[in-house]
Amino acid sequence: MEKYSFKNDYSEGAHPAILQKLVETNLTQTIGYGEDEFCDEARELIKKQLKKEAEIHFVSGGTQANLIVISSILKPYESVIAAETGHIAVHETGAIEATGHKINTIATSDGKISAIQIEKVLKLHTDEHMVKPKMVYISNSTEVGSVYTKAELKSIYNFCQENNLILFVDGARLGSALTSSKCDLTLEDMANLCDVFYIGGTKNGALIGEAIVFNKLDLNENFRFHIKQKGGMLAKGRLIGIQFSELFRNDLFFEMGKHANKMAEKLAKNISNKGFEFLTEPSSNQIFPIFPNELIAKLQHHFEFFVWEKIDEEKSAIRLVTSWATSEEKVEYFIQSI
Ligand SMILES: Cc1ncc(COP(=O)(O)O)c(C=O)c1O
Repeated sequence: MEKYSFKNDYSEGAHPAILQKLVETNLTQTIGYGEDEFCDEARELIKKQLKKEAEIHFVSGGTQANLIVISSILKPYESVIAAETGHIAVHETGAIEATGHKINTIATSDGKISAIQIEKVLKLHTDEHMVKPKMVYISNSTEVGSVYTKAELKSIYNFCQENNLILFVDGARLGSALTSSKCDLTLEDMANLCDVFYIGGTKNGALIGEAIVFNKLDLNENFRFHIKQKGGMLAKGRLIGIQFSELFRNDLFFEMGKHANKMAEKLAKNISNKGFEFLTEPSSNQIFPIFPNELIAKLQHHFEFFVWEKIDEEKSAIRLVTSWATSEEKVEYFIQSI
């Protein structure tokens, strides 16, 4: 039997409703570069949920969103503060540093950072002989599956506002975060508790695509020039507009996040009942159980997953990721295999 993959939430194609819409609209002619009616409709549907004015742009992937947002906002000598596990700090091939901006990293046990930790970084940067921290980058959910609560995000945003810092939330997995039982944030909250964020489609049932949302409207100035110069402006921008319209026309975006979380919760509950511990508290669609290496080797005969971190000579943490497409049957198969 073929191995089943819990490696990622982008192992499958797209939700059938999205594919169907792409097929239905296939011969509709539009203008290009994100100025078509599908993109406009998607923007309106998102704004309806935000209940606020916002400027929205579509790009194809997460690294691209991070790169264009961060490099468009920071002046040459300014830096961005992030968790040391943050995606921009670890998994983006130095894309941010390649634009000349230092990333000031913060050590964290659960992937999250706090206002107190950000303040410590500010205190270490006192004059023009150092970079000037100007932005805070967090992701929700984080690299290790944890989620920020409303109180935590509020506290960070208040600190940023008091200290003239821009808060940018990477929402590659915002769908899972906002539908997590551990997270009390809504999309409307995201409009009020950060300056700019993006809504991840790629990891939540779209074929490709992320929606960048500027809450602080002056940051949007000339943003399309930045998108184009960084190669992010798709001639067939409609492709992402059509998908985001489907994600937000009804509640598909949230339903898919909920399903992924439900499958992860079921895995976590059963793994915990069998007496195993986790690297971080299971909170979203990425969970990190700690297994004996022998068990990991056996599971690898039937499943694909990342071995995330060595705990000691006998045990390691693995990463299991569920998606909109993960079936209950496969989850049960994994549980039985343990
Ligand atoms: C939090 C986060 N941000 C950004 C990205 C980058 O996305 P992409 O692989 O589409 O560039 C990822 C990908 O795993 C991610 O987990």
